[in-house]
Amino acid sequence: MPAIAELIRTFADRKLMIRRSLGELYESIREFVVATDDEGAIIGCAALHVFWEDLAELKCLAVAESVHKRGVGRGLVDACWESARALEIETVFTLTYVAEFFEKCGYRQIDKAELPHKIWNECVRCPLFPSCHEIALIRSVGEAPSWSASAAPGVESGTEQVVRTLLTAVEA
Ligand SMILES: CC(C)(COP(=O)(O)OP(=O)(O)OC[C@H]1O[C@@H](n2cnc3c(N)ncnc32)[C@H](O)[C@@H]1OP(=O)(O)O)[C@@H](O)C(=O)NCCC(=O)NCCS
Repeated sequence: MPAIAELIRTFADRKLMIRRSLGELYESIREFVVATDDEGAIIGCAALHVFWEDLAELKCLAVAESVHKRGVGRGLVDACWESARALEIETVFTLTYVAEFFEKCGYRQIDKAELPHKIWNECVRCPLFPSCHEIALIRSVGEAPSWSASAAPGVESGTEQVVRTLLTAVEA
């Protein structure tokens, strides 16, 4: 866990990620996936935090700069998605400054306000709240999540319908 803490710290110092204490990381140790090099050293990490039966957050994603742009980040994002699917969780969201990277990994941007209130517990403890500029993205197996406004009958826009149909096709 110290290696994960150090990896996250290098980016948190540059305000690219939220700082995490060792205690906080140990409490969530079972949520982490890591990537290692040939010597077994940790070169990347990510965590999947379950919020509800159909919703989880991908967080703490970090890849050592020495191995950027070699597919490690995508591998970690995919591993978290597989973990979510193994738990039959249909939607994973993330709050990030690297929206383009997540879009390349199959996520799509949504309005932060669409996320359910229960996810803001951690944010309200952050010094940047409420003026941080993180972007919300989700990946979903196809159906609109039960907490989303677009799940309510009669409020679905044409664009959302098309996006959902495309997502269903991609997942099939
Ligand atoms: C963002 C991060 C995890 C990407 O890791 P990575 O291992 O370099 O990413 P990958 O090599 O798997 O890249 C997958 C694709 O995304 C692209 N990509 C990678 N970083 C990107 C970025 N910052 N912005 C836009 N696209 C990016 C890659 O070029 C690649 O595209 P391709 O499929 O067209 O070739 C890594 O840069 C990082 O740790 N950044 C600092 C911490 C951070 O911002 N974490 C996210 C907080 S939620």
